[in-house]
Amino acid sequence: MKKALVTGCAGFIGSHLTQRLLNDGVTVIGIDGFIDNYDVAAKLRNLAEIGKHPAFTFHSTTLQTGRWDIWLENVDVVFHLAALPGVRNSWGKSFADYVSHNILATQELLEACLQRPKPPVIVVSSSSSVYGTMQGTVTNENAPLRPVSPYGVTKEAMEQICSVYVKAYGLPVTMLRYFTVYGPRQRPDMAFHRFFRQMMKGEEVIVYGDGQQSRDFTYVTDAVEANLLAAQHAVPGDIFNVGGEREIKLIDVLSIMGTLMNLTPRITYQNGPAGDSLRTCADIQFAQQRLGYKPKVALEEGLRHQLAEIRSQSKG
Ligand code: UGA
Repeated sequence: MKKALVTGCAGFIGSHLTQRLLNDGVTVIGIDGFIDNYDVAAKLRNLAEIGKHPAFTFHSTTLQTGRWDIWLENVDVVFHLAALPGVRNSWGKSFADYVSHNILATQELLEACLQRPKPPVIVVSSSSSVYGTMQGTVTNENAPLRPVSPYGVTKEAMEQICSVYVKAYGLPVTMLRYFTVYGPRQRPDMAFHRFFRQMMKGEEVIVYGDGQQSRDFTYVTDAVEANLLAAQHAVPGDIFNVGGEREIKLIDVLSIMGTLMNLTPRITYQNGPAGDSLRTCADIQFAQQRLGYKPKVALEEGLRHQLAEIRSQSKG
């Protein structure tokens, strides 16, 4: 890979991936639309270091502006991370925006890649939310898709449109279903980011539901590694779970956080917005076999890194 396009390069996972590509000597074209799902300042901070790199060109625009001839010139791999993320905000009127950013923009990207003399490899970011609440011990990629949020519905539709382009045209698209990614730069609406900040301010932690819901939390550099491996080894149409090292209940994560911060979290339980999956647990065998993917960062270590970043920001 000599030149890559990263959509959503100012976001949480996108900025880490861009940094890694640049470190590996890849030329990167980055696009980010700064859609207002959260603080622009946070996204600018994500870009601060990358932005200075001579092999990085940045386009501050949404994909819908469609300057594909410029963006895709000589690109061998597209990493498609631009999206409107977040499970809990996808109800009501905002659904139309989710459809636009997650489905329509992806179809435009696929169509543009198809028009290239040699279409690039395309690695698309999907989500464990396509499964909804998981049954059984672990969930593999053939499990039924039963999203429980409008966001999950848009991610399922996004996968379907990708699969259609693979089947009809052999477009080299692969999809990664991330399982609740965490680590430095995590989106401010996500649980760990909020919990750390609430505890640092001495506030009560707001837990939705009873805290017994569980997740297969995945550290951000493991998600980045999965992208690089997929670009190299995936077969068109492949879909991979990208999970962490273990499933854990939210309440147990809070106790690890408390230990790291040397305090006992004070918790308020609330009815959260609808759309929350009660359980996610990834079977990553397929990613292991085909890609050689193996999560490397244990939850305790990953939480330490995230806490260190949040502490350093609150000082600065
Ligand atoms: C996350 C991302 O937000 C989605 O974009 C992504 O697609 C999804 O992971 C996925 O991997 O499929 P979620 O699992 O809800 O969704 O991640 P968090 O926001 O970190 O929430 C984890 C759990 O903590 C949820 O049960 C949530 O209800 C709970 N939570 C969240 C709280 O109890 N309190 C909060 O303040 C925030």
